[in-house]
Amino acid sequence: MFRAFRLIANMLRPRVFLSSLCVVIVLFSFLQLVAYLYAPDYAPNLMNMFRSRDETVADLFEETVEGVFVFGDSTVSAGDFAATPYPYGLDWKNGPGGRFSNRYTIADCFATKVGTHISQPFNTFGKDAKVDDAGINFGTGGCGLLDKTRPPSRYWQCSSASEQKSQMINLDLNKTRIEKAVFLVSMAGNDFIFSYLNKRQVVHKFFYLYLLSDAKEFAQELGVEMKGLLETLYTFGARKFVVNNVGPVGCIPNLRHSFKMMTCNVQLNEDVKMYNNHLKAVLRDFANMFVESKVVLADSYGVLSLILDDPAKYGFKNVSHACCGKWSKETNMFECNNSTEICGDRKAYLFFDGAHTTDQANKVFADNCLSGKVCSRVGKH
Ligand SMILES: *[C@@H]1O[C@H](CO)[C@@H](O)[C@H](O)[C@H]1NC(C)=O
Ligand SMILES: *[C@@H]1O[C@H](CO)[C@@H](O)[C@H](O)[C@H]1NC(C)=O
Ligand SMILES: *[C@@H]1O[C@H](CO)[C@@H](O)[C@H](O)[C@H]1NC(C)=O
Ligand SMILES: *[C@@H]1O[C@H](CO)[C@@H](O)[C@H](O)[C@H]1NC(C)=O
Repeated sequence: MFRAFRLIANMLRPRVFLSSLCVVIVLFSFLQLVAYLYAPDYAPNLMNMFRSRDETVADLFEETVEGVFVFGDSTVSAGDFAATPYPYGLDWKNGPGGRFSNRYTIADCFATKVGTHISQPFNTFGKDAKVDDAGINFGTGGCGLLDKTRPPSRYWQCSSASEQKSQMINLDLNKTRIEKAVFLVSMAGNDFIFSYLNKRQVVHKFFYLYLLSDAKEFAQELGVEMKGLLETLYTFGARKFVVNNVGPVGCIPNLRHSFKMMTCNVQLNEDVKMYNNHLKAVLRDFANMFVESKVVLADSYGVLSLILDDPAKYGFKNVSHACCGKWSKETNMFECNNSTEICGDRKAYLFFDGAHTTDQANKVFADNCLSGKVCSRVGKH
């Protein structure tokens, strides 16, 4: 105790204090340099330690958000095409069905957080859509960024990125509103599940190295499509973008179960990460080329990894099983319907069905996005 006091008293002596300060400054600069050299994207975060942590998306865009236009898959779909009957939506009284969650998707959580209305699905507007204050949700469950990505069932209808894109540009919307709205893009997970994985399983038995270069190629293929989507939206008048990366799809209950071990498919997650890194570069190039744009990367992969690593910290008890669903050998997935069991405490589960996160998980995502931990602006600005 006494020694500690002496140490502090010593440090308070001007010369000792000054040299300690110098050491701290030198150390800090060194850390900055190391961070800059090894991870330029994270380097500014070191400075953020001294700034207020409560950065909001409104801050990211430097103005309030007016309406959200949504493009994507079941992570954001509000039910275009897909009727998702009970128990989907069971925690949303009188809420619209069609969502792959017990209540809100990440798009709904995002809109609610930034204080705009939840946008309605495209088909409820029809072809002669008028300007809607809340934006429009073009998302559908099952498709991907690539046109070739389709769900296994022939009877399942969905729109790929290019189809959603053409639905948008055929509408006559108010340009002033478009400029002020946020364009939320969340897709490519299905490309890994339905296009990449299937191809991979076949080749897997023969040659491993080929696969690694294939992962890179696949990332490039997705990147080209994403770039095309953003450029089209920009030409249409969009200026504010939030782009979600792909989560650790190797950890969804369906894939855990089909690989028999109930552990995550680590290799698939690595391949997803390769795409996510490439996506970041694509977004940075886009933001730097179109200087009027404001581009935010939402790191779904990051936040889901945090939850998977320490579920209790985020209030989850079960991150490996579906809250609702029974394994079906025919479809090779957990089926969630009105005759399968549903968990009691939905807030304790990360996954509602075999592939989709619960309302609670989506809320954690949105909360963390808005606090600046999950979402960050990319490009020079
Ligand atoms: C377009 O939106 C702006 C901003 O909300 C509004 O002031 C303007 O009146 C709208 N224009 C038309 C033609 O509706
Ligand atoms: C998760 O829930 C499933 C049933 O839904 C159960 O079999 C499993 O043991 C649970 N795991 C944990 C870690 O609680
Ligand atoms: C619900 O899913 C289970 C498991 O796949 C299946 O056996 C059952 O027929 C389904 N029931 C309905 C009503 O669709
Ligand atoms: C369960 O779902 C099936 C198929 O969607 C439907 O025919 C049936 O009426 C439902 N049963 C109940 C009790 O809601």
